[in-house]
Amino acid sequence: MRDLTAGTLGYAEPFVGGGAVFFALAQACQGLAQATLNDANPRLIGAYRALQESPEALLATLRALEADYLALPADGRRAFYLAQRKRFNALRGAEVECAALLIFLNRTGFNGLYRENARGDFNVPFGRHANPTICDAPTLMADAAALRGVRLLCGDFARLLDTLTRPSFVYLDPPYKPISATSSFNSYTKRPFDDAEQCRLAAFCRELDRRGHRFLLSNSDPGDGFFDRLYAGFRIERVRARRSVNANPAKRGPIDELLISNQGT
Ligand SMILES: C[S@@+](CC[C@H](N)C(=O)[O-])C[C@H]1O[C@@H](n2cnc3c(N)ncnc32)[C@H](O)[C@@H]1O
Repeated sequence: MRDLTAGTLGYAEPFVGGGAVFFALAQACQGLAQATLNDANPRLIGAYRALQESPEALLATLRALEADYLALPADGRRAFYLAQRKRFNALRGAEVECAALLIFLNRTGFNGLYRENARGDFNVPFGRHANPTICDAPTLMADAAALRGVRLLCGDFARLLDTLTRPSFVYLDPPYKPISATSSFNSYTKRPFDDAEQCRLAAFCRELDRRGHRFLLSNSDPGDGFFDRLYAGFRIERVRARRSVNANPAKRGPIDELLISNQGT
């Protein structure tokens, strides 16, 4: 932890998504001195940029969306959601507006999911939340503070490698390998993250290790030895983890996940 706070050890995430680990660590360390966050989703990275550079403007836009939405009766909210989804898919540039819409859709859409169709359009259905908190100002301002000084990159994970100019701790949370035919949600973006991508990622981790970085990767445990073969020679732990995103609520319980690292190998 001290190395991360002092910046002698860099911190990087090639698949930052919602940034659960980054934000928890930044809070625990009261800021990470040398952090790089990357994701292939340009709207997501745009939202982090807007939060980093213009938090007040973002909050004002989000508050206006929240007020318009909450003023509507239940049946009007669905139509409003679909209209904002259409506007979001048509927007180009306009980082603050796009960021506000991304948060709005995340708070009012089904299960807080982010999913795109083959054309790259966000296509999550309406969520029917009774009373969603759309503009959580204290959390957003804390997130903006955590993002201060953070380098934000948008692109494929492989591009992160050459940007790491100091020894780093790299946490990787890629789209998971589906553990069954009915649990195949891994289409965050239009390009599927299939077995060939998992192999490309394992080669990336081997290169991180060769260059002296530390890495920790989480993934599902398909139970067929796929990852044991792919990451042979590294430390592989099996842990029980809570799965909160599943179309079937009965299947949101704890499941086995893998933690793979080059620590102690
Ligand atoms: C499992 S999510 C990460 C979840 C994140 N740790 C969190 O706390 O929400 C996987 C992320 O990988 C991103 N992604 C998918 N393919 C990618 C690629 N080739 N390179 C970089 N990011 C990618 C998706 O956009 C998504 O945000």
